[in-house]
Order: sequence, then C-alpha cells, then structure tokens
Amino acid sequence: HPPTLQMEESSGLRRSACRAKGGASGYKVAILGAAGGIGQPLALLMKMNPLVSVLHLYDVVNAHGVTADVSHMDTGAVVRGFLGQPQLEDALTGMDLVIIPAGVPRKPGMTRDDLFKINAGIVRTLCEGISKCCPKAIVNLISNPVNSTVPIAAEVFKKAGTYDPKRLLGVTTLDVVRANTFVAEVLGIDPREVDVPVVGGHSGVTILPLLSQVKPPCSFTVEEISYLTDRIQNGGTEVVEAKAGAGSATLSMAYAAAKFADICLRGLRGDANIIECSFVASQVTELPFFATKVRLGRSGVEEIYPLGPLNEFERFGLEKAKKELAGSIEKGVSFIRK
Ligand code: NAI
Repeated sequence: HPPTLQMEESSGLRRSACRAKGGASGYKVAILGAAGGIGQPLALLMKMNPLVSVLHLYDVVNAHGVTADVSHMDTGAVVRGFLGQPQLEDALTGMDLVIIPAGVPRKPGMTRDDLFKINAGIVRTLCEGISKCCPKAIVNLISNPVNSTVPIAAEVFKKAGTYDPKRLLGVTTLDVVRANTFVAEVLGIDPREVDVPVVGGHSGVTILPLLSQVKPPCSFTVEEISYLTDRIQNGGTEVVEAKAGAGSATLSMAYAAAKFADICLRGLRGDANIIECSFVASQVTELPFFATKVRLGRSGVEEIYPLGPLNEFERFGLEKAKKELAGSIEKGVSFIRK
C-alpha cells in the first residue's frame, strides 16, 4: 500500500525534525531502573514534562519495551532505551539530571535497611558510571535505604574526584507528599494548600514531620499530632502491607519523584524561590547528611535552610532521628571505605 509507505516516510521525517528541535532546548534526563514499579510511571511522567528534551531509560530488564511504549506519547521529549551494564555509559553520557529508582523494594516485615545488601552494590555501580560519563549531572537518589545510599553515592563520587555535594540529592518528597495529604485530611482542606516540612531522613523515626511549622498556620491536638506523626513515619509500611508482597509505593512515589525532578529542572533553568525538602550533605546538625528544606538553583542545592523553631515533641523526635540516622550514614560510608 503506497499511501502507508508514504505516511511512514513522512512521519519519519517529522520525527527527525522533532529530534533536532528537542535536543536544542530543554534538559536531558536519565532514569536508572526505568522498567521497575517506580521507573515505569516515572518515565511516563517525565515524558510529559515540557522541560525534558531527551529521556534515557536504562534498566537491566525490559528497557526497550518500556521505551517503545512511552515513546509513542505525543509529547516533546525524545526517548531512548538502554539495556544492561554494557549500555550504561551511553545511557549516562551528556545527562543533566539522573534519577535513580533502581534496586529491590520492601516486602511485608522488611525494613528499608534490609535492602542494604543488594541496593548498596547497585547504587555504587550506577554512581561509578555517573562519575565517568556525566560528573556534572544533578543526581536524584530514590533507591532505599536512602539514609545510606546517599552517603554511598557521595563516597563513590569522592573516590572518583567528582563529588559536588550540591548535586547529590536524596529524594524524600514522598514523605512531604504524604504529610501534606494526611494533614489536609485532618484539617478538612485541599492538600494543594498544605505545606508540611519533613526533615531528618527517609526511614521510620528519622522521618520527622514538623507539624508546628505547617502552612497554613494551624494547631493540632495531642492525639492528632500522635496520629499524624505515626502515619507519616509509617506511610511506606502502610502501602507495603496493603500490597502484601507485591512491592512498595510505586505510583505515589513516581508522582513524588516527578515533582522533585521538575523542581530540580526549574532550579537548573534559574527560576527563583525553588524550595523543597531533600536529604543532602548538610551542616544543619552535627550529622554529615540531613533532610531539610533546600533552595535549588543552577548549580543544584544553593541554600540549606535551618530547622526553625521546634516544640518539645519535635526536639525529642529530632534526637531519636539523629541517633538512628548516624548509624545508617556510617553504614553507607563504610560500605565504600572498607
Ligand atoms: P522494582 O523492583 O519494581 O524496580 C526496580 C527496578 O530496578 C527493576 O526494573 C530492576 O530491573 C531494576 N534494577 C535492578 N538492578 C539494577 C541495576 N543494577 N541497574 C539498573 N536497574 C536495576 O522496585 P520499585 O518498587 O520500583 O522500587 C525501587 C527502589 O525505590 C527500591 O529500593 C525502593 O525501596 C525505593 N523506594 C524509595 C522511595 C523513596 O521515598 N525514596 C519510596 C518507594 C520506594
């Protein structure tokens, strides 16, 4: 059928024209672990982001299937798939932002720390690739335990001589997203109007919602504070149990990761007042890494905000969080230094 042939030829031409345009403006983003429970919906959401011109999808399985699927979306980003270790370098070369949701998720009864053995090695390998191929990229680390994988990434980058603490960010956005949702439910208002700072880390008691600093300003009863703190800290476990062995949060996490990636890209573009919580190298406490609100800009993290006034309940929570966090950070550091 000649008409079909013609259509294919002309659409081929249009595609290459699009490619040239897409490459000229916008940012190049890679997702490592793109075929996973988080990776797939995250690939979808990043393909919808108008700031993305090139989207590289890397995984050790099914990368080409996900790429073929997502590439049919009629949005601007050009999508390319990369399968397995031999293609990691091509996946990373030239990237402005690398998002890492690679690794195993929790099953019921597991803590995030139980994932350490497998995910620590995966994160090391991927970060070695980043050092080599896109040392200036912003890195959004999602793989758990975030409290240890961020220190692991930092050590890998230090070893390679490419470490820039402003460009390495642990993704804790899901904790903020959950906190906003649960607080909005209690207050009976729209979650889009709520802003809850969540500081510390990304696991159990290290997740510290600062309910005294919620915007819009409000007050909670002792019961509400206890309910909200517990639900925010255990939101991940709530999903793990509901999925009963089929994984952990993937859809809400992909949403949170896409939200955070968009914030990083807007920072890179030079937008003003781009502020979000993230687990980063920090001097806010005596620990080398800590999550607080940070301001993002052209070079990544440009300002780290202090904790602000805490009430007694939060001060107590902070001490507990720091104790656990110290151990998780040390575990990550010694995994590389040992
Ligand atoms: P999943 O098992 O569905 O997907 C993980 C993907 O990583 C798979 O496609 C797998 O093939 C891939 N992968 C494994 N080894 C790899 C390697 N060496 N290089 C590239 N890709 C590799 O898991 P899911 O549910 O997507 O979770 C991924 C990670 O995200 C887990 O560690 C999980 O604990 C974490 N997570 C983090 C959250 C956060 O708030 N930071 C929230 C939810 C999950």
